[in-house]
Amino acid sequence: MSSFSFPDRVDGKIALVTGASRGIGSSIALALAEAGADIIVNYSKSEAKADLVVEEVRRMGRKAVKVNFDVSNFDEVESAVKHIGAAFSRIDILVNNAGVNRDRTFVKMSKEEWDEVMSVNVDGAFNVTKSVLPFMLSAGWGRIINISSIVGISGSFGQTNYAASKAALIGFSKALAMELAKDKITVNVVCPGFTTTDMIASLPVQVKDNLYQKILMKRFAQPCEVGRMVAFLASPRSDYITGGVFEITGGYQGTV
Ligand SMILES: NC(=O)c1ccc[n+]([C@@H]2O[C@H](COP(=O)([O-])OP(=O)(O)OC[C@H]3O[C@@H](n4cnc5c(N)ncnc54)[C@H](OP(=O)(O)O)[C@@H]3O)[C@@H](O)[C@H]2O)c1
Repeated sequence: MSSFSFPDRVDGKIALVTGASRGIGSSIALALAEAGADIIVNYSKSEAKADLVVEEVRRMGRKAVKVNFDVSNFDEVESAVKHIGAAFSRIDILVNNAGVNRDRTFVKMSKEEWDEVMSVNVDGAFNVTKSVLPFMLSAGWGRIINISSIVGISGSFGQTNYAASKAALIGFSKALAMELAKDKITVNVVCPGFTTTDMIASLPVQVKDNLYQKILMKRFAQPCEVGRMVAFLASPRSDYITGGVFEITGGYQGTV
Protein backbone atom coordinates (compact mmCIF):
# COMPACT_ATOMS: atom_id res chain seq x y z
CA MET A 1 0.00 0.00 0.00
CA SER A 2 1.41 3.43 -0.91
CA SER A 3 2.26 6.06 1.67
CA PHE A 4 -0.49 8.21 0.15
CA SER A 5 -3.24 5.71 0.95
CA PHE A 6 -1.78 4.92 4.40
CA PRO A 7 -0.56 8.26 5.75
CA ASP A 8 0.32 7.12 9.29
CA ARG A 9 3.86 6.05 8.37
CA VAL A 10 6.22 4.41 10.84
CA ASP A 11 8.96 3.59 8.32
CA GLY A 12 12.15 2.27 9.84
CA LYS A 13 10.65 1.79 13.30
CA ILE A 14 10.81 -1.49 15.24
CA ALA A 15 7.58 -2.53 16.95
CA LEU A 16 7.00 -5.19 19.58
CA VAL A 17 3.38 -6.36 19.77
CA THR A 18 2.49 -8.72 22.62
CA GLY A 19 -0.08 -11.41 21.94
CA ALA A 20 0.39 -10.91 18.21
CA SER A 21 -0.31 -14.50 17.23
CA ARG A 22 -4.08 -14.06 16.98
CA GLY A 23 -7.00 -11.66 17.05
CA ILE A 24 -6.48 -7.95 17.61
CA GLY A 25 -2.73 -8.35 18.21
CA SER A 26 -2.12 -9.97 14.81
CA SER A 27 -4.11 -7.17 13.12
CA ILE A 28 -2.07 -4.54 14.98
CA ALA A 29 1.13 -6.24 13.83
CA LEU A 30 -0.09 -6.21 10.21
CA ALA A 31 -1.28 -2.58 10.39
CA LEU A 32 2.10 -1.46 11.75
CA ALA A 33 3.89 -3.48 9.05
CA GLU A 34 1.66 -1.92 6.40
CA ALA A 35 2.68 1.46 7.83
CA GLY A 36 6.35 0.56 7.41
CA ALA A 37 7.53 -0.93 10.73
CA ASP A 38 9.50 -4.13 11.28
CA ILE A 39 7.67 -6.35 13.72
CA ILE A 40 8.57 -8.47 16.74
CA VAL A 41 5.65 -10.89 17.06
CA ASN A 42 5.20 -12.10 20.63
CA TYR A 43 3.19 -15.23 21.30
CA SER A 44 2.64 -17.52 24.24
CA LYS A 45 1.01 -20.77 23.05
CA SER A 46 0.02 -20.28 19.39
CA GLU A 47 3.37 -20.74 17.65
CA ALA A 48 1.92 -21.85 14.30
CA LYS A 49 -0.31 -18.76 14.20
CA ALA A 50 2.66 -16.53 15.10
CA ASP A 51 4.51 -18.09 12.13
CA LEU A 52 1.65 -17.07 9.81
CA VAL A 53 1.82 -13.47 11.06
CA VAL A 54 5.59 -13.42 10.53
CA GLU A 55 5.15 -14.75 6.97
CA GLU A 56 2.49 -12.14 6.20
CA VAL A 57 4.66 -9.27 7.50
CA ARG A 58 7.58 -10.51 5.39
CA ARG A 59 5.31 -10.67 2.33
CA MET A 60 4.72 -6.95 2.91
CA GLY A 61 8.47 -6.41 2.60
CA ARG A 62 9.12 -5.79 6.28
CA LYS A 63 11.33 -7.75 8.70
CA ALA A 64 9.59 -9.93 11.28
CA VAL A 65 10.61 -12.36 14.00
CA LYS A 66 8.56 -14.30 16.49
CA VAL A 67 9.47 -14.34 20.14
CA ASN A 68 7.99 -16.61 22.76
CA PHE A 69 7.32 -15.35 26.25
CA ASP A 70 4.54 -15.34 28.80
CA VAL A 71 3.97 -11.66 29.60
CA SER A 72 3.09 -12.53 33.20
CA ASN A 73 6.55 -14.00 33.87
CA PHE A 74 8.95 -11.13 34.63
CA ASP A 75 12.19 -13.11 34.23
CA GLU A 76 11.06 -14.70 30.95
CA VAL A 77 10.06 -11.29 29.55
CA GLU A 78 13.28 -9.60 30.65
CA SER A 79 15.57 -12.17 29.09
CA ALA A 80 13.56 -12.41 25.82
CA VAL A 81 13.33 -8.62 25.39
CA LYS A 82 17.06 -8.13 26.15
CA HIS A 83 17.93 -10.71 23.51
CA ILE A 84 15.56 -9.50 20.80
CA GLY A 85 16.16 -5.80 21.50
CA ALA A 86 19.91 -6.34 21.13
CA ALA A 87 19.37 -8.22 17.85
CA PHE A 88 17.34 -5.32 16.39
CA SER A 89 19.39 -2.75 18.36
CA ARG A 90 16.19 -0.81 19.15
CA ILE A 91 12.53 -1.14 20.07
CA ASP A 92 10.63 2.05 19.16
CA ILE A 93 7.01 1.03 19.52
CA LEU A 94 5.50 -1.22 22.19
CA VAL A 95 1.92 -2.41 22.02
CA ASN A 96 0.81 -4.14 25.24
CA ASN A 97 -2.00 -6.16 23.71
CA ALA A 98 -1.78 -9.64 25.29
CA GLY A 99 -4.82 -10.25 27.45
CA VAL A 100 -7.15 -12.90 28.81
CA ASN A 101 -10.63 -13.05 30.30
CA ARG A 102 -11.96 -15.55 32.84
CA ASP A 103 -15.59 -14.48 33.14
CA ARG A 104 -17.73 -15.40 36.15
CA THR A 105 -19.95 -13.46 38.51
CA PHE A 106 -18.02 -12.19 41.52
CA VAL A 107 -19.78 -14.51 43.96
CA LYS A 108 -18.56 -17.54 42.01
CA MET A 109 -15.17 -16.18 40.95
CA SER A 110 -12.15 -18.03 42.33
CA LYS A 111 -8.97 -16.40 43.55
CA GLU A 112 -7.16 -18.19 40.69
CA GLU A 113 -9.49 -16.60 38.10
CA TRP A 114 -8.89 -13.17 39.62
CA ASP A 115 -5.10 -13.68 39.79
CA GLU A 116 -4.74 -15.06 36.27
CA VAL A 117 -6.46 -12.08 34.68
CA MET A 118 -4.53 -9.59 36.80
CA SER A 119 -1.18 -11.24 36.18
CA VAL A 120 -1.53 -11.36 32.38
CA ASN A 121 -3.40 -8.09 31.82
CA VAL A 122 -1.79 -5.84 34.45
CA ASP A 123 1.51 -7.44 35.54
CA GLY A 124 2.07 -8.26 31.86
CA ALA A 125 1.99 -4.59 30.88
CA PHE A 126 4.36 -3.75 33.77
CA ASN A 127 6.80 -6.54 32.89
CA VAL A 128 7.06 -5.79 29.18
CA THR A 129 7.12 -2.01 29.56
CA LYS A 130 9.84 -2.27 32.23
CA SER A 131 12.02 -4.35 29.89
CA VAL A 132 11.42 -2.29 26.73
CA LEU A 133 11.65 1.22 28.19
CA PRO A 134 15.49 1.38 28.38
CA PHE A 135 15.61 1.03 24.56
CA MET A 136 13.23 3.98 24.14
CA LEU A 137 15.04 6.11 26.71
CA SER A 138 18.37 5.63 24.98
CA ALA A 139 16.80 6.44 21.58
CA GLY A 140 15.04 9.55 22.95
CA TRP A 141 11.75 8.58 21.27
CA GLY A 142 9.08 5.98 21.82
CA ARG A 143 5.47 4.97 21.61
CA ILE A 144 3.70 2.84 24.21
CA ILE A 145 0.15 1.85 23.36
CA ASN A 146 -1.82 -0.18 25.86
CA ILE A 147 -4.87 -2.15 24.79
CA SER A 148 -7.51 -1.76 27.46
CA SER A 149 -11.25 -2.23 26.82
CA ILE A 150 -14.42 -0.20 26.94
CA VAL A 151 -15.47 -2.38 29.89
CA GLY A 152 -12.61 -0.83 31.89
CA ILE A 153 -14.74 2.33 31.75
CA SER A 154 -18.30 0.99 31.61
CA GLY A 155 -17.99 -2.15 33.76
CA SER A 156 -19.45 -5.42 32.53
CA PHE A 157 -21.60 -8.08 34.17
CA GLY A 158 -19.55 -11.17 35.05
CA GLN A 159 -16.22 -9.43 34.44
CA THR A 160 -15.10 -7.86 37.73
CA ASN A 161 -11.58 -9.25 37.23
CA TYR A 162 -11.33 -8.25 33.56
CA ALA A 163 -12.93 -4.81 34.02
CA ALA A 164 -10.62 -4.07 36.97
CA SER A 165 -7.57 -5.10 34.95
CA LYS A 166 -8.59 -2.91 32.02
CA ALA A 167 -9.30 0.08 34.28
CA ALA A 168 -5.86 -0.44 35.82
CA LEU A 169 -4.26 -0.07 32.39
CA ILE A 170 -5.86 3.36 32.01
CA GLY A 171 -4.42 4.62 35.31
CA PHE A 172 -1.06 3.04 34.53
CA SER A 173 -0.92 4.73 31.12
CA LYS A 174 -1.95 8.19 32.35
CA ALA A 175 0.66 8.12 35.15
CA LEU A 176 3.39 6.79 32.86
CA ALA A 177 2.58 9.46 30.24
CA MET A 178 3.35 12.09 32.90
CA GLU A 179 6.72 10.53 33.67
CA LEU A 180 7.86 10.03 30.07
CA ALA A 181 6.69 13.15 28.20
CA LYS A 182 10.08 14.82 28.79
CA ASP A 183 11.74 11.88 27.00
CA LYS A 184 9.51 12.21 23.89
CA ILE A 185 7.85 8.91 24.72
CA THR A 186 4.08 8.99 24.43
CA VAL A 187 1.78 6.60 26.27
CA ASN A 188 -1.79 6.11 25.12
CA VAL A 189 -4.63 3.68 25.69
CA VAL A 190 -6.96 2.14 23.15
CA CYS A 191 -10.29 0.86 24.45
CA PRO A 192 -11.92 -1.40 21.89
CA GLY A 193 -15.53 -2.40 22.20
CA PHE A 194 -16.66 -5.86 21.17
CA THR A 195 -14.35 -7.11 18.43
CA THR A 196 -14.66 -10.32 16.41
CA THR A 197 -11.89 -12.55 17.80
CA ASP A 198 -11.61 -15.85 19.68
CA MET A 199 -12.12 -13.92 22.93
CA ILE A 200 -15.81 -13.34 22.25
CA ALA A 201 -16.43 -16.23 19.84
CA SER A 202 -18.18 -18.31 22.48
CA LEU A 203 -20.78 -15.64 23.37
CA PRO A 204 -24.27 -17.11 22.79
CA VAL A 205 -26.10 -15.73 19.71
CA GLN A 206 -28.78 -14.19 21.92
CA VAL A 207 -26.18 -12.28 23.93
CA LYS A 208 -24.58 -11.05 20.69
CA ASP A 209 -27.97 -9.92 19.35
CA ASN A 210 -28.62 -8.00 22.58
CA LEU A 211 -25.21 -6.36 22.33
CA TYR A 212 -25.78 -5.24 18.72
CA GLN A 213 -28.79 -3.28 19.98
CA LYS A 214 -26.44 -1.27 22.23
CA ILE A 215 -23.97 -0.50 19.43
CA LEU A 216 -24.84 2.43 17.16
CA MET A 217 -23.11 0.70 14.20
CA LYS A 218 -25.11 -2.51 14.92
CA ARG A 219 -22.05 -4.72 14.51
CA PHE A 220 -18.86 -5.74 16.30
CA ALA A 221 -15.49 -4.23 15.30
CA GLN A 222 -13.15 -5.98 12.89
CA PRO A 223 -9.66 -6.39 14.44
CA CYS A 224 -8.12 -4.36 11.57
CA GLU A 225 -10.17 -1.36 12.69
CA VAL A 226 -8.34 -1.42 16.02
CA GLY A 227 -5.06 -1.96 14.16
CA ARG A 228 -5.51 1.25 12.17
CA MET A 229 -6.09 3.27 15.37
CA VAL A 230 -2.87 1.86 16.84
CA ALA A 231 -0.93 2.66 13.65
CA PHE A 232 -2.08 6.27 13.91
CA LEU A 233 -1.02 6.52 17.56
CA ALA A 234 2.36 4.98 16.68
CA SER A 235 3.07 7.44 13.88
CA PRO A 236 4.73 10.87 14.09
CA ARG A 237 1.30 12.35 13.23
CA SER A 238 0.37 11.71 16.87
CA ASP A 239 3.44 13.48 18.35
CA TYR A 240 1.24 15.74 20.53
CA ILE A 241 -1.05 12.97 21.81
CA THR A 242 -0.18 11.41 25.15
CA GLY A 243 -2.10 10.19 28.18
CA GLY A 244 -5.11 9.77 25.90
CA VAL A 245 -7.84 7.17 26.09
CA PHE A 246 -9.30 6.29 22.69
CA GLU A 247 -12.56 4.41 22.46
CA ILE A 248 -13.22 2.43 19.30
CA THR A 249 -16.60 0.92 19.95
CA GLY A 250 -18.93 1.68 17.05
CA GLY A 251 -20.77 3.93 19.51
CA TYR A 252 -21.37 1.29 22.22
CA GLN A 253 -23.96 2.57 24.70
CA GLY A 254 -22.92 0.26 27.55
CA THR A 255 -24.49 0.74 30.94
CA VAL A 256 -23.39 -0.40 34.37
N1 LIG B 1 -12.15 -9.13 21.45
C1 LIG B 1 -12.72 -8.13 22.11
O1 LIG B 1 -13.95 -7.95 22.05
C2 LIG B 1 -11.90 -7.17 22.91
C3 LIG B 1 -12.51 -5.98 23.34
C4 LIG B 1 -11.77 -5.07 24.08
C5 LIG B 1 -10.44 -5.32 24.38
N2 LIG B 1 -9.87 -6.49 23.98
C6 LIG B 1 -8.47 -6.70 24.36
O2 LIG B 1 -7.68 -6.81 23.19
C7 LIG B 1 -6.56 -7.66 23.45
C8 LIG B 1 -6.54 -8.78 22.43
O3 LIG B 1 -7.77 -9.51 22.57
P1 LIG B 1 -8.27 -10.54 21.47
O4 LIG B 1 -9.73 -10.41 21.40
O5 LIG B 1 -7.45 -10.46 20.25
O6 LIG B 1 -7.94 -11.90 22.26
P2 LIG B 1 -7.62 -13.36 21.72
O7 LIG B 1 -8.16 -13.53 20.35
O8 LIG B 1 -8.05 -14.27 22.80
O9 LIG B 1 -6.01 -13.35 21.63
C9 LIG B 1 -5.27 -13.16 22.81
C10 LIG B 1 -3.81 -12.98 22.46
O10 LIG B 1 -3.11 -12.76 23.69
C11 LIG B 1 -2.06 -13.69 23.78
N3 LIG B 1 -1.80 -14.05 25.17
C12 LIG B 1 -2.67 -14.50 26.10
N4 LIG B 1 -2.04 -14.73 27.25
C13 LIG B 1 -0.73 -14.42 27.05
C14 LIG B 1 0.42 -14.44 27.86
N5 LIG B 1 0.38 -14.83 29.14
N6 LIG B 1 1.61 -14.04 27.31
C15 LIG B 1 1.68 -13.64 26.02
N7 LIG B 1 0.62 -13.62 25.20
C16 LIG B 1 -0.57 -14.00 25.71
C17 LIG B 1 -2.48 -14.89 22.96
O11 LIG B 1 -1.31 -15.58 22.55
P3 LIG B 1 -1.23 -17.20 22.37
O12 LIG B 1 -2.45 -17.63 21.59
O13 LIG B 1 0.06 -17.37 21.61
O14 LIG B 1 -1.18 -17.79 23.74
C18 LIG B 1 -3.21 -14.21 21.81
O15 LIG B 1 -2.28 -13.81 20.81
C19 LIG B 1 -6.72 -8.14 24.88
O16 LIG B 1 -5.96 -7.35 25.75
C20 LIG B 1 -8.21 -7.95 25.13
O17 LIG B 1 -8.48 -7.80 26.50
C21 LIG B 1 -10.56 -7.42 23.25
